[in-house]
Amino acid sequence: MSKLPHVLSIEGIDNTAISSLFAMADALHPYALGARVSNVLQGAVLINLFLEASTRTRISFGTAFNRLGGSVRDTTGFQFSSLAKGETIEDTARVISGYGDVVVLRHPKQGEVANYAAHSLVPVINAGDGSGEHPTQSLLDLYTIRQQLAQQGKELSAQTVAFIGDLRFGRTVHSLIRLLARYSNIRFVLCSPQGLSLPPEYSVLIRKAGHTLLETENIADALAAADIIYATRVQQERFADQGEYLLAPGSFRISKAMIERFCKQEAIILHPLPRDGREGANDLDASVTDTSDPRVAVFRQADNGIVTRMAVFLHVMGVSLEQVEAESRSSPWQNHRPPAGKPASGL
Ligand code: NCD
Repeated sequence: MSKLPHVLSIEGIDNTAISSLFAMADALHPYALGARVSNVLQGAVLINLFLEASTRTRISFGTAFNRLGGSVRDTTGFQFSSLAKGETIEDTARVISGYGDVVVLRHPKQGEVANYAAHSLVPVINAGDGSGEHPTQSLLDLYTIRQQLAQQGKELSAQTVAFIGDLRFGRTVHSLIRLLARYSNIRFVLCSPQGLSLPPEYSVLIRKAGHTLLETENIADALAAADIIYATRVQQERFADQGEYLLAPGSFRISKAMIERFCKQEAIILHPLPRDGREGANDLDASVTDTSDPRVAVFRQADNGIVTRMAVFLHVMGVSLEQVEAESRSSPWQNHRPPAGKPASGL
C-alpha cells in the first residue's frame, strides 16, 4: 500500500510544503468568506472524530471541508464513542476507514492519533493528541504571524517571540516551537508559572537550532521584550491532581492595563483560544479584544483556521488550486460578514 499523507506532527510537513500551503491559503480567502464557492471535493466525506472538547478546531475543519464542496460527519466526546464501550483503537480506525475519505482526530492521549493512523486505510489529520502536538494550529499560527508581520513590513527573522502560560501541557506551543525553530535568528522568551515550564526536548531544539532562549517568570518582562506574544490557557484537564492545578498558576493573568503599560507599540498578540474568561482566571483577559486594541490578533488568527485547513485538505486529497478554481463560481447568495483583512502577500 502506498504511504498515506497523514498529518500527525509538524515535523512531517517540510518548508517547501509550507510555502505551497500558505500560497494556497492566500488564494482561498474568497472561498473562506463565501464570496466564491467551489465543489471540488463534492462526494468526499470527512469524518471529524473529536474525543475531547473542541469548538473552533472541530467547526473550522468541518467548515473548511464544506467550503470545498465536501460533506462532514461529526462525533464529539469520548463517552459518545464506541471506545467508551471498550472498542480498540485498531477496530475503530478500520471501521471508520470504510465510512469516509479522510479523518480528523482529536484524542486525549499523546501518541494515540499516530496509533490510530497506523491502522487507518485513509489519511488522518491530528487535531490534538493530549499534550503532544496540534500541527494544523501551528500552521495557522505561523500563517497569522507572517501575515501580521508582512503588514508591518517585517520578516520573522530577528523577532522576539514570547510564549506565556502553560508551556508544559500546551500542545499548540509544542507544535509552534517545532515550526519556528526551523527559521533563523529568533529570540524565544519563555514565561510560565512554576511547574508548567516547557519540556526540555523543546528548549534543546531551540538551542540546537541556534536561537536565543530566555526564561522568566515575570510577565511584565516577557511582554516588554516581545514583538510577538503567544499567550495560552492553563490546561486544567491535563492535571492528574486537580489540587496541583489550583496551586499552579499563582497570578498569571494578562490584563488590558498590563498590555497598555508594557507591550511594544507594534506587538502582535496571539492566543490559540479558547481563553478562560472566568473571573480571576490566569489567562489573557477576555476584555482584551481587537476592537479595544488592534495589537490583539486572536480573532484574525482564529479566522485563518479556515484557509489554512482548506489548504491542508487540498494537499491531503491531492487537489490543486487550479482544480478548485475550475470547479468554482461566484456565490449567488448574500454574505453578511464584513470583509476580512487583506491576505498576506509574499509568503
Ligand atoms: C487549543 C487545544 O485544543 O490545544 N485549542 C485549539 O485547538 N485552538 C488550546 C487550548 O485548548 O487551550
